[in-house]
Amino acid sequence: MPSYDLSKHDLLEREVARLPLQAQVLFPFEAPFLKLHGVTDSSSLWDIGCGDGSWLRLFRSAFPNSTSAGLDHSPEILDYARKQNPGVRLLLVDEKNISELLLHGEFDVALLRFSLQHMSPDVRNRILSALGSRKALTRVIAIEGDDHSFAFRPPCEAIRTLLEAKGRKQAAQGGDRHIGSRLPELFSRLGFGLVRQDSIPITSKIGWDTWWNVLGPVILSGADKTQYGLVDQAISWFERNRDNEHALMTASLYMVSASNSSEPP
Ligand SMILES: C[S@@+](CC[C@H](N)C(=O)[O-])C[C@H]1O[C@@H](n2cnc3c(N)ncnc32)[C@H](O)[C@@H]1O
Repeated sequence: MPSYDLSKHDLLEREVARLPLQAQVLFPFEAPFLKLHGVTDSSSLWDIGCGDGSWLRLFRSAFPNSTSAGLDHSPEILDYARKQNPGVRLLLVDEKNISELLLHGEFDVALLRFSLQHMSPDVRNRILSALGSRKALTRVIAIEGDDHSFAFRPPCEAIRTLLEAKGRKQAAQGGDRHIGSRLPELFSRLGFGLVRQDSIPITSKIGWDTWWNVLGPVILSGADKTQYGLVDQAISWFERNRDNEHALMTASLYMVSASNSSEPP
């Protein structure tokens, strides 16, 4: 079972509400990293695990002369991506066709944003190895989180327990909620060159409600049926601290750029 099964209606509904906000909030932090690592208006970018296409839409408006395509294995979420990106190539992929597409596709930047954490190690290695084996010079950019970077002040035991439960749940299904800080090691081990990482703390200074609307649904979904008391405690911590000027929620955004060649472009 994949760690993120969008054929489940409740998950799809939650994610098509959350992903556009997440993309909108984080894109201003991500765009400078893209530019620093050679993404320009003449780039051709493939977004692997493009989800509802919100990020792709923002990318296209920031780089209007670039070309782009989105790939995803969920037909349900690709319908949303199509609505947001009329005329853009959006490909339904599966484990059989993805390596071939990635080996021979016409692009020079591959983006993996919050998709590697949902893949099993086998699928992840297969996708990255295909990108690493391309003949064309290719920049791979991965953007991820790591649950170890979450911090809540004042501390909240219920949120910490829910995050741990979420991590275990995702790991049991093959995913990895700590992959963000492991990306440089992963890319180097797979033979990529010019591996560079940046990490930025995203704090509730972006807005208490905004931060929670992006990450709260993910945290709360860690609960299983016996843990609904923790959900209530987490929500009441959030409500109680809304006007506390000393309260803070934070999590880091990890961004890695790597090349399938070790020669500078
Ligand atoms: C959390 S969403 C992120 C969507 C988008 N990249 C974003 O940042 O808003 C993860 C996406 O990765 C896709 N995904 C996960 N594993 C995949 C795989 N093996 N091949 C293609 N897409 C995959 C999921 O279907 C989902 O749409």
